[in-house]
Amino acid sequence: MNDQYHLETLAVRAGTLTTEFGENSEALFLNSSFRFKNAAQAAARFGGTEPGNIYSRFTNPTVTMFQDKLAALEGAEQCVATASGMSAILACIMGICSAGDHIVASRSIFGTTVQLFTNILKRWGLEVTLVSLTDVEAWKAAAKPNTKLFFAETPSNPLTEVGDIVQLAEVAHAAGAYLAVDNCFCTPALQQPLKLGADIVIHSATKYIDGQGRVLGGAVLGNKVLIEPVYAFLRTAGVTMSAFNAWVFVKGLETLQVRMEAHATRALALAQWLEQQPGVERVYYPGLPSHPQYALAQKQQRLGGGIVTFEVKPRAGQTAQEAAWALIDATRLISITANLGDAKSTITHPATTTHSRVTAEARAEAGIKDNLVRIAVGLEHIEDLKADLQLLTE
Ligand SMILES: Cc1ncc(COP(=O)(O)O)c(C=O)c1O
Repeated sequence: MNDQYHLETLAVRAGTLTTEFGENSEALFLNSSFRFKNAAQAAARFGGTEPGNIYSRFTNPTVTMFQDKLAALEGAEQCVATASGMSAILACIMGICSAGDHIVASRSIFGTTVQLFTNILKRWGLEVTLVSLTDVEAWKAAAKPNTKLFFAETPSNPLTEVGDIVQLAEVAHAAGAYLAVDNCFCTPALQQPLKLGADIVIHSATKYIDGQGRVLGGAVLGNKVLIEPVYAFLRTAGVTMSAFNAWVFVKGLETLQVRMEAHATRALALAQWLEQQPGVERVYYPGLPSHPQYALAQKQQRLGGGIVTFEVKPRAGQTAQEAAWALIDATRLISITANLGDAKSTITHPATTTHSRVTAEARAEAGIKDNLVRIAVGLEHIEDLKADLQLLTE
């Protein structure tokens, strides 16, 4: 099926399993274990000589449907679902790396990922070097004989920097390492990193895959050889996806393509408008010609995505942070929350929320200023969003 149909069709149809009742919408298997016909079948299932479900920490049909659908969309051989996006990143590293290995990662990644890399992994004998997402030479220079993994997020959170997946994959492979890409901001609807040479794709399904801000989840995708050890870690460590959450994501994926197009259309219009406002110093959006990697984004992504970040111009007597907070506090429609990928537009101040645990020095290095505001553009009418940001027009 996967080679025969377009992405929109796969999003609706791929991975579906149907029970004897012939339900048209995917069933939710809300059970922790599965019965065997007899002791011999139980032994065969546990021994791996007979395929089939045993226990929902290992496999569950609703989770399997989610995994197979997302694998079809990313063009991956295999997908494993996880309890959250962070557990997807952790499982990827636990499955692929060992103590003594080295990871090269982009400095412009989600704040909690930076915490995991710099504070926690270090305690387990994994060394991480952070480099600029857009400086391919820096990735090359950082690679060592024990480098196992390159980790990038593109577009990045919150500055929407775009990394060249084709080039990063080439550099990783030349160094004997794998390239993992966090595809949270684009989703396979706008970008398919495996087709560009990446070895692993990671998702926080919590974001656009759900699309309505309901549940947490994540996924790791790649070829069977890479994903098997990730799965082995997951079923043992237990950071797996719940069947209910998988069911929400299966339904979310059905509308992914139309939602991503709607988010991106509104985000582009908002970014263009923000560029014209006297209260805005600078706008970061991959779909704007002023974006430093505009040409690359045009080539690598189908559209610019739904995240728009900008620096607010402080008024007389205002600090950078006060300017950003005043704008956020003046909104009446947009939700003040750090989540993204929701139908409801959200607004956040990265320096004091998503990236508050990153040191001020690291934030400065990553270009996250105190007047930076991130909007995850939802599905409301664009004119209502602009009206909610009226403070920028003065
Ligand atoms: C790019 C990116 N990756 C990973 C995560 C972590 O996902 P989760 O919150 O589902 O653990 C986030 C969360 O905001 C994110 O923005």
